[in-house]
Amino acid sequence: MDLLFFENSSYDLSLFFTILLAIFISKLRGKRFKLPPGPIPVPIFGNWLQVGDDLNRRNLSDLARKYGDIFLLRMGQRNLVVVSSPDLAKEVLHTQGVEFGSRTRYVGFDIFTGKRQDMVFTVYGEHWRKMRRIMTAIFERLFKDMQGSQGKEQKGEINEDNVLYIVENINVAVETTLWSIEWGIAELVNHPEIQQRLRNEIDTVLGPGVQITEPDTYKLPYLQAVIKETLQLRMAIPLLVPRMNLHDAKLDGFDIPAESKILVNAWWLANNPTNWKNPQDFRPERFLEEEAKVEEANGNDFRCLPFGVGRRSCPWIILALPILGITLGRLVQNFELFPPPGHSKLDTSEKGGQLSLHVLKHSTIVAKPRAL
Ligand code: HEM
Repeated sequence: MDLLFFENSSYDLSLFFTILLAIFISKLRGKRFKLPPGPIPVPIFGNWLQVGDDLNRRNLSDLARKYGDIFLLRMGQRNLVVVSSPDLAKEVLHTQGVEFGSRTRYVGFDIFTGKRQDMVFTVYGEHWRKMRRIMTAIFERLFKDMQGSQGKEQKGEINEDNVLYIVENINVAVETTLWSIEWGIAELVNHPEIQQRLRNEIDTVLGPGVQITEPDTYKLPYLQAVIKETLQLRMAIPLLVPRMNLHDAKLDGFDIPAESKILVNAWWLANNPTNWKNPQDFRPERFLEEEAKVEEANGNDFRCLPFGVGRRSCPWIILALPILGITLGRLVQNFELFPPPGHSKLDTSEKGGQLSLHVLKHSTIVAKPRAL
């Protein structure tokens, strides 16, 4: 009995000292670093108990309103830094693109990425450069455009493993493109007047019945605006792919300890009412009127980042945008799209977490062929 008591009390004591040590270390770290603001973490759990693990774009936007454009959460032992202003997004993605150009590890994805041997999740460095070269070469071969591919790919780089990981990345990327197409269709179904304006544009520019192809997509400003508005309001990867700094860094005057996970809340940059006029409305006209200069593909405006910007940005925008243009364009030029029978609107409830944003429920829409 006495022995049991002694064992229990020594267990309590060691727990007490562990907690004390954790507090002491976190105090020390706090003194050494000038960390970004955020909720006060508790030892061991950090902010987990306060914020939970559903760190989706809306929750993170609420936290930005409370703590500011840069804030820090301690998720267990890991620092999570969230930036929510165009200026800080520029700093992370562009100005300090190398410092913040690595990726964090997702243990659950290790099996698909061969422990980050792929391109999307690998750290910034030689392997990433190699995978980027290989992916470019594969695509160039695919398009039978061998011009320029010579010299980019180095001898023997394309092996079975590398190609496998790249195919796995492409799988995910195709899904991202599909989510964006679904959002585009949903918005067109729910906004018949926008659908009709788009149809008129295609009929006028191409002539009725002339099927849209890739070069036509650049001649159709309203189609481009519809795509841009879809990508902004329904951003498929709302927090981009998380970044990581390999070494201690500085951001907005704060210290960012090495190996922090950095999220850019691109969805909030695109949907913050202080940045845009009525961002919650699906209004492609904004990109022909007050926001006519904004481009989604070249990073000329850090409020509009559906593909990211800089070294780790999406390398295949040139593929994704025409796919979206041709798919939505052909649907609208050949069909009138209506909500499911018996419904006045398509259900656009969203599903998503840190890495994705897609339609919650799939519906069957009515596509009535046009008499051309
Ligand atoms: C509408 C469709 C698409 C959207 C919205 C999209 C968006 C994105 C975003 C937000 C990132 C992360 C950027 C960052 O961290 O700054 C990314 C990375 C990437 N995307 Fe896309 N993407 C799309 C289609 C595609 C397609 C079709 C491919 C290839 C077939 C592709 C391949 C990649 C790859 C390989 C990366 C990782 C780049 C790196 O880490 O260096 N994406 N994409």
